[in-house]
Amino acid sequence: MEFAHMFSPVSFGPISVKNRFVVPPMGNNFANSDGTWSEQSVAYYRERAKGEFGLITIEATVVHDNAKGGPLKPCLFSDASIPSLAKIADACHSYGAKVAVQLQNAGPEGNAACAGAPLQAASAIAAADGRDVPQALSAEQIYDLVKGYGDAAERALKAGVDALEVHMAHGYLVSSFISPRTNKRVDEFGGSFENRMRFSRLILEEIRARVGNRMAVGCRINSSDEMPGGIDVHDAAVIARYLEAHGADYLHVSRAVHIKDEYMWAPTSVHAGFSADLVTEIKRAVHIPVITIGRFTDAYYAELMLEQGRSDMVAFGRQSLADPYMPLKIKEHRQEDIVPCIACLQGCVANMYCGKPIRCLANPELGFECDASNDDGDDQNHVAKRVVVVGGGVGGLCAAAIAAERGHEVVLLEEQLQPGGNMRLAAFPPGKGDITALVRSYIVRAQKAGADIRCNTKASVENILACEPDVVVVASGAKPFILPVKGADEKQFALGEEILSGAVNPGHAVLVIGGGMVGCEIGDFLAELGHEVSIVEYRDVLAADMISEHRKEMMKHFSEYGVKSYCQANVQELFEDGVAYCTPDGACHELRGFDTVVMAVGYRSCDELSEELRAQGIETYAIGDAVRARRAIDATREAYDVARGL
Ligand SMILES: Cc1cc2nc3c(=O)[nH]c(=O)nc-3n(C[C@H](O)[C@H](O)[C@H](O)COP(=O)(O)O)c2cc1C
Ligand code: SF4
Repeated sequence: MEFAHMFSPVSFGPISVKNRFVVPPMGNNFANSDGTWSEQSVAYYRERAKGEFGLITIEATVVHDNAKGGPLKPCLFSDASIPSLAKIADACHSYGAKVAVQLQNAGPEGNAACAGAPLQAASAIAAADGRDVPQALSAEQIYDLVKGYGDAAERALKAGVDALEVHMAHGYLVSSFISPRTNKRVDEFGGSFENRMRFSRLILEEIRARVGNRMAVGCRINSSDEMPGGIDVHDAAVIARYLEAHGADYLHVSRAVHIKDEYMWAPTSVHAGFSADLVTEIKRAVHIPVITIGRFTDAYYAELMLEQGRSDMVAFGRQSLADPYMPLKIKEHRQEDIVPCIACLQGCVANMYCGKPIRCLANPELGFECDASNDDGDDQNHVAKRVVVVGGGVGGLCAAAIAAERGHEVVLLEEQLQPGGNMRLAAFPPGKGDITALVRSYIVRAQKAGADIRCNTKASVENILACEPDVVVVASGAKPFILPVKGADEKQFALGEEILSGAVNPGHAVLVIGGGMVGCEIGDFLAELGHEVSIVEYRDVLAADMISEHRKEMMKHFSEYGVKSYCQANVQELFEDGVAYCTPDGACHELRGFDTVVMAVGYRSCDELSEELRAQGIETYAIGDAVRARRAIDATREAYDVARGL
């Protein structure tokens, strides 16, 4: 498929963008604590420009000095930030990309402790349970804040930035005015549509007065707040029309307030275009370019959206974190090289929320672009080594790929018939199919770099030594943990992996022991197929270790399929058809009559080789679950570190 629309230029305001691939604003916590952008920020954005994204939007940038929502957020309320912003603009321009910066005041979603000032909003309504109640702004304060947007815009202009994106979405300050759900004012900023839009209009007018037509000025809006009484798509169409009439050059259409994050950064089961109908309504309402977004991981549906006139540009959020080179790979017809985002949210959103630099399971280089650009692997002292990697899970594949790319001779030994390890099976539960694409991309990468992947080959000290390695990377992963209770040694149960791989047909009624993420996903997998599923779990709730966006979805499935759960259940004994368990009140119970009992209580590390290899004097590194059973993001990260150090 050709991607003629995605690779055609587009113009708005005074700028022309070379293609339709957009990096949306994404808070990354790479900035310095003084509010300037760091060298890592520059390297991160440069990498996406190098990867051929046409328009790169710099993360939400704080406009007012009393509204800094996190210690590592960049700020534009002082001239001190101009030089570092200019570095980003220059770096991106040198690869032909245009640069926008998102202007933000987080309002009720801010962080009063960090800002050293109370939160502010249209009305005194907290963003969610547990958050501070913001102060309702006075009219005078609002007019003052408007000036702050103008000041920030001028600074961005001085830095050489091409476009401004005013954040009017997601429940932040401006959106708290737009939405009747959060704006209960009865002055000139509340009540009627015109009044609720007054703050947005004043901001646009102020910015235009300061920068004239030297920059494109856009707005990020919600297509829907996804909340009762909030903005819906019909409101959004009128908002779009209004902003166009008051000078917006383009619109970036996002979705939801943070209480409904699952619509903002959708989970794995949701695919590209899930907001297509919403954005189409907005596109129909205006004549300025409209950017759409939402779980795009390749350009197929993006191209169709453009071809059908339903959008003008497409933003790739998490996908641009997972693979900054995606547009270039498409341009060069190398789609099979694209590393997909699997929407796990493990490294990006999770880190952003706790104020740490973001990371990515699929792309362990995210956050280390600066180090990587200082070390391109072809220094004079670099010696090609013979590297044996034990285990073909994502950690092993990642280590093999990077080591081979750095010029080492790599042999990977995998016990199973296919590579992928536990991650390959993780793709089987409902909605997780994209994980297959991730595993596949790592296999392709390792093979293209020249790694010799030998499946059906169990690694032993003997066959490793026969390879005459200089270095061994042990990525042998983890094995299922078996609950040490009466009856467990009689193998009266199936393993989770035997269910997912199809090795065991469990019959109709299934009891899963273990209600963490893995056990629940196995339950979900079987319940979707019509099995009668029950889950026993030691903790108070099911899926306590799951990221909330994924958990919410799974709980909906469980109630739809009638999955039964028994929490605070301490399993004491296993039978062929069930278990005996005790509850905290000391009572003992039995659950019987199941066709199969499935053991899914976690994993234990599996490394039978490192010690002996080291004893034989071989330089050996253990990574990922082989060290301690953890998340896949730890495995790829450690694989990256070890392989880059070789
Ligand atoms: C780590 C992270 C940080 C984000 N920060 C911002 C931000 O600063 N401003 C904003 O408007 N949206 C932000 N978003 C939302 C994204 O711009 C985008 O709308 C969302 O990720 C959905 O796109 P995707 O499915 O392509 O990832 C962020 C998303 C992620 C994953
Ligand atoms: S951490 Fe997961 S969700 Fe975030 S960008 Fe990487 S693959 Fe996507």
